[in-house]
Amino acid sequence: MGKKLLIHNEHVANIHTLEVYKQHGGYASVEKAIKTMTPEAIVEEVKKSGLRGRGGAGFPTGMKWSFLAKPEGVPRYLVCNADESEPGTFKDRYLMEKIPHALVEGMITSSFALGVHTAYIYIRGEYFYVSRILEKAIEEAYAAGLLGKNILGSDYSLDLYVQVGGGAYICGEETALLESLEGKRGNPRIKPPFPAIAGLYGCPTVVNNVETIAAVVPIVMMGGDEYAKIGIGRSTGTKLISASGHINKPGVYEIELGLPVEEFVYSEEYCGGIWKGKKMKACIPGGSSVPIIPAELLLKTAAGEPRLMTYESLSDGGFATGSMLGSGGFMVYDEDTSIPMNLYTLNRFYHHESCGQCSPCREGTGWMEKVAHRLAEGHGKPSDIDLLWDIQKRIEGNTICPLGDAAAWPVASAIRHFRQEFEALIPKKEVAH
Ligand SMILES: Cc1cc2nc3c(=O)[nH]c(=O)nc-3n(C[C@H](O)[C@H](O)[C@H](O)COP(=O)(O)O)c2cc1C
Repeated sequence: MGKKLLIHNEHVANIHTLEVYKQHGGYASVEKAIKTMTPEAIVEEVKKSGLRGRGGAGFPTGMKWSFLAKPEGVPRYLVCNADESEPGTFKDRYLMEKIPHALVEGMITSSFALGVHTAYIYIRGEYFYVSRILEKAIEEAYAAGLLGKNILGSDYSLDLYVQVGGGAYICGEETALLESLEGKRGNPRIKPPFPAIAGLYGCPTVVNNVETIAAVVPIVMMGGDEYAKIGIGRSTGTKLISASGHINKPGVYEIELGLPVEEFVYSEEYCGGIWKGKKMKACIPGGSSVPIIPAELLLKTAAGEPRLMTYESLSDGGFATGSMLGSGGFMVYDEDTSIPMNLYTLNRFYHHESCGQCSPCREGTGWMEKVAHRLAEGHGKPSDIDLLWDIQKRIEGNTICPLGDAAAWPVASAIRHFRQEFEALIPKKEVAH
């Protein structure tokens, strides 16, 4: 049984209430941080822990925190990214719905560490009911003196707000999120300046994923060095994985980073193997934006080493033979899945969600949808596969935000690994009469 640090209390009755959460050790990190630690010491522990952002890119959290500008007399903000619109990813929802105080606690401890007095949780519109759960938890925390003025009798004060978004995928991109939070259309900003220098309302801002912020609680409690002992190499700690698709036991699992992928897919503790006794054909291991890989390459690297659930191992071999851990949205496809149809579905999504600011993404996602559609439906032309390849190449790296890359990579990887399946759907040249 792997170690659990985030959802170990998931099955405790009424763990969503402050009373039960506290009975199980909740808010100890706030007590410890505010009463016994300096903000700098907390940042140091987070650095030592090796924690990497759980929103997808895996950027080291301690480093991000140390970039936060601290000009005199200017407020700074902590914004929690609870947008979670990446297809195949639902772990943040699970955490917030089941144990909302785990996020509230993480927000208080992290805000204290960053010298923040106003913090926001930006949550996607479709999670409206979860926003109500969070608001209730925040209300309880205010009543208990854990939020508001002079927290736990100290001179530290913090206000925490929940902002519900309109349900656009692009608002998960951190600068689009900030625009939306400011009441504007969620268009990504050109970087630099990065949010750490000029973020919300032009002030220094840290944007972190729900799971990243929740992980600060065990880090403060156990210390960064102890946390770093869990996992392998630069992939430290535990990770929530949203497992879905053609497996026997879909759900949210907390794993220790470094778990062999094969064990994750086939053991009863996790996915429980492929459904209906079928074989696995392919997997998208980190949310819809990361490359799809065939089953053989998911379980073993090109060099024949067992693939591990880590940032490094899942990307081993680059995009030629690897993929990415991403947000941990682990989607498994059985042997009967149509890869062209799956790709068409993803292309539709990215076309719909492109904000339209950058021409390569705005136009390219539309063309990819059209071409993938005719290929998947069996009306494609022999030149369509190369056309699709060409379009994705022109998007990748040519947009303000990485949504363009996120739309391009699934296309490139589907063609790279499953070209024959696309070819098989192209009607044979009509015989001349
Ligand atoms: C199109 C797009 C959508 C994104 N959606 C999310 C999201 O829903 N949740 C999230 O935490 N990060 C998302 N990100 C990543 C954020 O921009 C940012 O890197 C992240 O919130 C930083 O937090 P972390 O360092 O804790 O991972 C998205 C990025 C892109 C380009």
